[in-house]
Amino acid sequence: MVAGNWKMNTTVEEGLALARAVCAAVSGIDGVDVAVLPPFTHLWPIHSVLEGTGVRLGAQDVYWKDSGAFTGEISPPMLAGWCDLTLVGHSERRHIFGEHDDEVGRKFVASLAHGLQVIVAVGETSDERDAGSTFAVVDRQLDAVFAELESPPSNDDWVIAYEPVWAIGTGRTATPEQAQEVVAHIKQHVRARYLDGSPRVLYGGSVTAANAASLFAEPDIDGALVGGVSLRAEEFGVIVAAAAEARSGTRDRV
Ligand code: 13P
Repeated sequence: MVAGNWKMNTTVEEGLALARAVCAAVSGIDGVDVAVLPPFTHLWPIHSVLEGTGVRLGAQDVYWKDSGAFTGEISPPMLAGWCDLTLVGHSERRHIFGEHDDEVGRKFVASLAHGLQVIVAVGETSDERDAGSTFAVVDRQLDAVFAELESPPSNDDWVIAYEPVWAIGTGRTATPEQAQEVVAHIKQHVRARYLDGSPRVLYGGSVTAANAASLFAEPDIDGALVGGVSLRAEEFGVIVAAAAEARSGTRDRV
């Protein structure tokens, strides 16, 4: 899976043009689940652009209530039926907007309850990495989600994105070995909680056309959540092609 998180970038018009360019850049590449996550204002018009292209549509965030006096928020029923997925727990939500682990859990459950696939992002800060607590941090973030769940979601309904905070937008990509180590740990942690739980686990943080193939060559990395480069359709297409290449090799699922 390769998903492009556009963050707070592009006007509606620019976003429509970008969505068309992404569709063109990835057309003919088979075997990769491709998604774009534009800002909320763009979702409805881009939904029409994506129809029939195979590129799926995601929201960058969502609230956990269905409706009510929650000024500025967007609910799962507003997205359900035409938007494919949501992203919850992105580090910018956690660190800039002060979202807590339990809120991320509620957003996760609310998305699933309305038939939206959900990507949950986890990852440590550089201080946490230096303190040796990377595994403890991602475990805590995931456990907060599991605490909200009554039963394990089916594997296709959720995706985990490992995004070390120190690698996001910094140009300082985790090495393939660093990413593999944490992604493998995450998979083990999920299996320990849910006997056969094996959602896809993506890596995110300064993924580019130049480093994607080496990340995808790692045995446990199932794809990428791309930020900055997802605003450049051709380069994004190169990342998708690298995922297709990795999948057609020894990997059976990217
Ligand atoms: P960059 O690819 O810009 O580092 O952002 C990663 C990210 O936060 C994707 O959600």
